[in-house]
Amino acid sequence: MKGIVLAGGKGTRLSPLTQVISKQLLPIYDKPLIYYPLSVLMLADIRDILIVSTPQSLPAFRRLFGDGSHLGLNIGYARQDEARGIAHGLLIGADHAGDGQVALVLGDNIFHGTGFSEVLAKARQSLDGCVLFGYPVTDPHRYGIAEVDDDGRLVSVEEKPSRPKSDRAVTGLYFYDNDVFDIARSIRPSDRGELEITDVNRVYVEQNRGHLEDLGRGFAWLDAGTHQSLLEAGEYVRVLESRQGVRIACLEEIALRMGFIDSDSCYDLGRGMIDSSYGRYVMEVASMLA
Ligand code: G1P
Repeated sequence: MKGIVLAGGKGTRLSPLTQVISKQLLPIYDKPLIYYPLSVLMLADIRDILIVSTPQSLPAFRRLFGDGSHLGLNIGYARQDEARGIAHGLLIGADHAGDGQVALVLGDNIFHGTGFSEVLAKARQSLDGCVLFGYPVTDPHRYGIAEVDDDGRLVSVEEKPSRPKSDRAVTGLYFYDNDVFDIARSIRPSDRGELEITDVNRVYVEQNRGHLEDLGRGFAWLDAGTHQSLLEAGEYVRVLESRQGVRIACLEEIALRMGFIDSDSCYDLGRGMIDSSYGRYVMEVASMLA
């Protein structure tokens, strides 16, 4: 399975923060926002990852991650010139995905919860069509909303409905079989001129090949789309990290635990950031797991 991170968009709701910096590079406490969705793909055991972003922001992502080999990854880059929707961004990754399955994650979505890698592994194994990940929210009119039957099979999906049929938001993580590219090519732009991912998901629902994996109340799904939610997400990470002494979405640690790199390489990555508590944490983890 290949991975795609969508890190485009203008981030206008965060202006002037996003005037010169991409939203996905803004800090969530101790690391850039994109670390969080990237960590999700890594936890799903995905190592071939394409980052899709604007021509302005791509050089910064390249500086941040290079070819990804230091993390045992293979990271490529592709440009999305205009904000033409999530499904459009997905199509940019069609060549990257080849003829296999693909995991798409939005570059501003933060997921956190115990046992996440098991949830992801299960979703991968059972993938036949698409697997979406649902999360209960109090403001369903702001998201894609899913309705499911007792087996978790999708019955309907609607984008930002004025009369939501459930409180189950469709989060920004999507697992698809290779049909997704033909489906994305077949849909038409919405009223806002975008290729909507919800329209793609609806085709799977109609084919009775859509499944929803419920993340449920033990999980955190945060968005960083406004000034307030950006700060709150950072505060969430700070509170948990300082209370527990473990870091969320520490890519070096995940690469080590997933067996993508060895402890010596991990230690060296930490040493390169020795002036920061993050770097020292990476060194500690590497020593502990040596
Ligand atoms: C997009 C999707 C929506 C999904 C959300 C998750 O919304 O269209 O279905 O629930 O991401 O973050 P947008 O952020 O483009 O409003």
